[in-house]
Amino acid sequence: MATILVTGGCGYIGSHTVLELLNKNYEVVVVDNFSNSSFESLRRVQKITGKEVTFYEADIRDSAKMESIFDKHNFDAVIHFAAFKAVGESCKLPLKYYENNISGTVSLLQIMERRGVKKIIFSSSATVYGDPERLPLDETCRLSTTNPYGSTKLMMENIMQDLWKADNEWNIILLRYFNPVGAHESGLIGEDPKGIPNNLMPFVAQVASGKLSCINVFGNDYDTPDGTGVRDYIHVVDLALGHIAAIEQCNLSGVHIYNLGTGHGYSVLDMIHAFEKACGKKLPYKICERRPGDIAACYACPDKAKKDLKWEAKFGIEEMCASQWKWQSGNPMGYES
Ligand code: NAD
Ligand code: UFG
Repeated sequence: MATILVTGGCGYIGSHTVLELLNKNYEVVVVDNFSNSSFESLRRVQKITGKEVTFYEADIRDSAKMESIFDKHNFDAVIHFAAFKAVGESCKLPLKYYENNISGTVSLLQIMERRGVKKIIFSSSATVYGDPERLPLDETCRLSTTNPYGSTKLMMENIMQDLWKADNEWNIILLRYFNPVGAHESGLIGEDPKGIPNNLMPFVAQVASGKLSCINVFGNDYDTPDGTGVRDYIHVVDLALGHIAAIEQCNLSGVHIYNLGTGHGYSVLDMIHAFEKACGKKLPYKICERRPGDIAACYACPDKAKKDLKWEAKFGIEEMCASQWKWQSGNPMGYES
């Protein structure tokens, strides 16, 4: 079976993807520096699957250490999650983001090039569409960014496009995720944000568990059906399965770009009400100012992934909320619980 290197495999999306890779009997090697995670997620993945993961605590920018890992394994492909992802922090500390996300990726690509490992699946984001040119967003829509984090994603896409132009042997798969939410059905792994969550759903889950007191709804005067922001929420397990589909279906060299979304847009209030059903209680919320940099609506046209990858999202918002609640209620302090 193929051996896959997963960078950032202890994180939220990485741990769910490692689990699905193991379920499919891939050999999995994870590299993570624990800048936003701990080993506990992988320990639980091993418990759920009953399978072993080879793990190295390493920073992808540490070329010597990464070379030594490539000495020990023959990788068939790399799934590259390792990056910083907080939009607000990226505005305050742009260099931290350019350093980790861009330098880390360039360093990883250099080692892959030296070793002749030329298949990479890269975590891009719907953020590269900036303020959407049209909806639903398809892969040909105009690209732009509104913050340094988004700029790092777009730059990395461009770097990989250039790499392919210079060497047509590369097989580069750019997956543009919409809004990942939810958790594995076991309730044993999930998103474990440090401090107060930036994203809507972990915040909602922490209000439901009593850790936070009230949901702040950032604006109700957008041009959307109920005035609150609309997004394409995708179950993290569907997202993980999208990576397996990319590994299995995308075997020709080139730069292949896919949206991973459901194609459905839900408002902030839709999500709060769906979560109320999942947790069986009313959730307090208040309408606040718009959050600077937010767009009104963003949802995917997922047709290309369906056609080429034979993948489509299966879970709806009920499963997203129920699984997120199972994770949150069973692990109120995240992996420290
Ligand atoms: P996460 O923070 O949970 O996971 C990222 C992992 O990478 C963490 O375990 C962290 O410790 C590790 N890491 C960071 N820098 C590293 C480095 N230099 N060397 C080694 N390990 C490093 O984030 P996530 O939500 O799982 O996101 C995974 C990827 O998907 C990221 O690239 C992110 O930008 C992208 N993405 C996430 C979202 C989202 O909303 N969660 C949306 C679109 C794209
Ligand atoms: N929102 C609230 N209150 C909150 C948090 C968010 O009302 O406490 C609203 C936002 O205004 C937005 C929606 O909920 O309308 C979703 O916000 P998130 O912060 O959960 O997600 P974003 O769409 O802003 O951004 C996320 C990731 C980005 C990524 C993007 C697309 O944070 O990194 O999805 O994948 F680029």
